[in-house]
Amino acid sequence: REGFRRHRKLIDFEPVAVADGNGPWPTISADYEYQVLIPWGDPLEPGGPEFNYPPNADDQTKQIGIGHDGMHYFPIDRFRGYRDDDWDDDRHPFRRYRWRRGNWHGMLVINHEFGTNPHVLGKQSPESLEDVRVSQHAHGVSVVEIKKSRGVWRTVKSHNARRIHVNTPVTFSGPVAGHPLLQTPNGNIPLGTVNNCSNGHTPWGTYLTCEENFNGYFGATNRDTVWMPTAAQERYGFSETGFGYGWYNFDRRFDLSDVDYVNEENRFGWVVEIDPMDATQKPVKRTALGRFKHEGVALTIGQGRRAVAYMGDDQRFDYIYKFVSADDYRHMLHQGESPLDRGQLFVARFNDDGSGEWLELTIDNPQLAAAFNDQAEVLTYARMAADILGATPMDRPEWTTVAPNGDVYCTLTNNSRRTEANAANPLAPNPDGHIIKWRDSDKHTGLTFEWEIFLIAADTHGTEDTFSDPDGLWADPAGRLFIQTDGGQKDGLNNQMLVADTRTGELRRLFTGVAGDEITGITVTPDRRTMFINTQHPGNGDPSVTNFPAPLDGVTVPRDATFVITRKDGGIIGS
Ligand code: FEO
Ligand code: CA
Ligand code: CA
Ligand code: CA
Repeated sequence: REGFRRHRKLIDFEPVAVADGNGPWPTISADYEYQVLIPWGDPLEPGGPEFNYPPNADDQTKQIGIGHDGMHYFPIDRFRGYRDDDWDDDRHPFRRYRWRRGNWHGMLVINHEFGTNPHVLGKQSPESLEDVRVSQHAHGVSVVEIKKSRGVWRTVKSHNARRIHVNTPVTFSGPVAGHPLLQTPNGNIPLGTVNNCSNGHTPWGTYLTCEENFNGYFGATNRDTVWMPTAAQERYGFSETGFGYGWYNFDRRFDLSDVDYVNEENRFGWVVEIDPMDATQKPVKRTALGRFKHEGVALTIGQGRRAVAYMGDDQRFDYIYKFVSADDYRHMLHQGESPLDRGQLFVARFNDDGSGEWLELTIDNPQLAAAFNDQAEVLTYARMAADILGATPMDRPEWTTVAPNGDVYCTLTNNSRRTEANAANPLAPNPDGHIIKWRDSDKHTGLTFEWEIFLIAADTHGTEDTFSDPDGLWADPAGRLFIQTDGGQKDGLNNQMLVADTRTGELRRLFTGVAGDEITGITVTPDRRTMFINTQHPGNGDPSVTNFPAPLDGVTVPRDATFVITRKDGGIIGS
């Protein structure tokens, strides 16, 4: 599959030793090197506003956001990247993509999940609407055009570079679009995306960003009425004070007690589609994929060329979902319909005997018809519908990825509150997490699957391969599984990225981040000789822990950033 390297071992690099993977700076395998790209606050394109700390709200709309997370690289070449049939090329990129320009010129689309107030604003809470706007504009998504010249990747001038943030106009499509649940008394138009965690991408060349902990940005001033959570608000974790962002004190849209903005919170918790090659496109919230704390979306093509999307809902005891488009995705596109607008949404039940079932979230099910009025309600309150169907509560489902042989992997990052184990979540409590894998029937479209545990993090403890809290995940076309971590690692290690050989179970550490960060986000150029990953919340925002990457540009606050990773011999990443 990798041409002349076929006889070589799948993983053949010098690992980063446990003893070396700590401290305020990153460490990479001796066979690899890295470059830092687009730290928080850099202008989106050359000539844009330079970073000043703390930033102002207007500048921040033209600068890279904070909280780098999921991302995808879209190559630019004569064929405009992965449109249509090029998708299958993703499986064998070496063969057809080796010499294409898209290997050193592309659009990078990157999520900005979150930044704490002290880190972003330089103070504990916003004191004005302007402060709130700074925080809001630091969240969302960046679309940048990047190019490699004389060995160095840089952002370049671009017609399609843009920021999408909490105040960017968006639209809804699919079964919930136009439903009263998405209308507010005030009649304000839908704006923005928030807590953009992991991501996905489609065969038709678009980016998918996922809204995870959207509940934390809402709160209640109780100015007009005393807010009492509805059952749905409680299930989705809304509270009077949220996560401490304080937006609701100055921006009424996020005030749950404001009678003019009833239902505003239903506009978040979706998967959002973005065209990286068209800056005039309004991001579209695809409601057929359900509303929950979307970690990421792994899209593949199943039987009948239907688009299939696997998705985790990252909360303790929440679920794994699957969406299957109604028809051949190309037919739907030719008819002017998005494959993500019509189809079936399922939730997973993992039986203790290694079998599993996909339970459909449909109003045609009498159990759900008894609890909801229509399909739009089922999708908006997908968590509650899944509760009724008896889905299996998991240990925080984070990323999913589909390997070329059809195996699907999902990280279950941890669950310190589990008191009762089951076969799919075998540790109680489970402070360090595990990775599960399954194989669907009918080429991803069936109602049943077979599953097994791939790796239990605690089993690696005390060895050189130690890791905890798996989160980011990517199965490459050759059988490697890239595993990124977010949580307390053992033996003083920083968070890290490891590579597993899925056939042998061998594990090696390729990279460790900086103190206090997590490693997340993963994408490659089509030839897989350049990889992009992120450090998120380096030093947890505290300059006394790390000033990374300050010595590069003289700014003293630690900043989220992207690493461009290459093998010194120009080989495939992971080899
Ligand atoms: Fe945003 Fe579940 O990580
Ligand atoms: Ca994550
Ligand atoms: Ca995580
Ligand atoms: Ca995170």
